[in-house]
Amino acid sequence: MFENLQLDVRRNLQDYAPRGLLHRVALCLTLNSIHAVSLIRFQFWCAQHHIPTLFAAKLLFWFFKIEVSKAAFIGPGLRLPHPMGLIIAPGVRIGPDCDLYADVRLVLANGAKQGPQIGNHVFLGDGAKVVGNVSIGDHAVIGVSSVVTRDIPAHATAVGIPAKIINDQNDRASDNR
Ligand SMILES: CC(C)(COP(=O)(O)OP(=O)(O)OC[C@H]1O[C@@H](n2cnc3c(N)ncnc32)[C@H](O)[C@@H]1OP(=O)(O)O)[C@@H](O)C(=O)NCCC(=O)NCCS
Repeated sequence: MFENLQLDVRRNLQDYAPRGLLHRVALCLTLNSIHAVSLIRFQFWCAQHHIPTLFAAKLLFWFFKIEVSKAAFIGPGLRLPHPMGLIIAPGVRIGPDCDLYADVRLVLANGAKQGPQIGNHVFLGDGAKVVGNVSIGDHAVIGVSSVVTRDIPAHATAVGIPAKIINDQNDRASDNR
């Protein structure tokens, strides 16, 4: 938990360029993104240690309207710039260093058990939805309010409903930790 959380915190702080330890602590105490990722990691930690996850899940829902299944997997370096309204279903896999904006939904198709598989360094813009057992390749960008129903290759930018590729070689940085 702590290793992942450390990488999450580092990525969520990167926009604020903390100047020294005090500034870093102040940001950790005040930034919603850090509170939300901490609760998500706490929920996974409880699940791993066979402790009921209800408390963490309720806090996540009450404060942020976020629901993350304990049967999902989220790699380190999760960045949530506007942590609100996320839904992450069971069986979803999110690789390292992804950015999820407000109201992103990663959900199962009707009757399916396997959810979306998101690569690393993927950007999911405000309100993006990914439905069913689809893969989103590394460094892909999904635009605001887009609905992804098919696989998106690595380095592609996709927008619209259903999402269509508008750029197959975007310049999303390979590592912005
Ligand atoms: C996906 C995105 C990165 C594309 O940016 P871009 O590469 O600069 O693309 P452009 O703005 O030049 O748009 C290219 C085309 O796609 C369309 N388009 C862009 N974003 C779209 C979207 N979310 N839904 C539907 N169409 C979209 C544009 O209208 C344009 O269409 P046209 O060629 O017919 O005029 C950007 O639109 C986006 O959604 N960014 C995420 C923003 C976000 O979530 N911010 C959160 C911070 S608050």
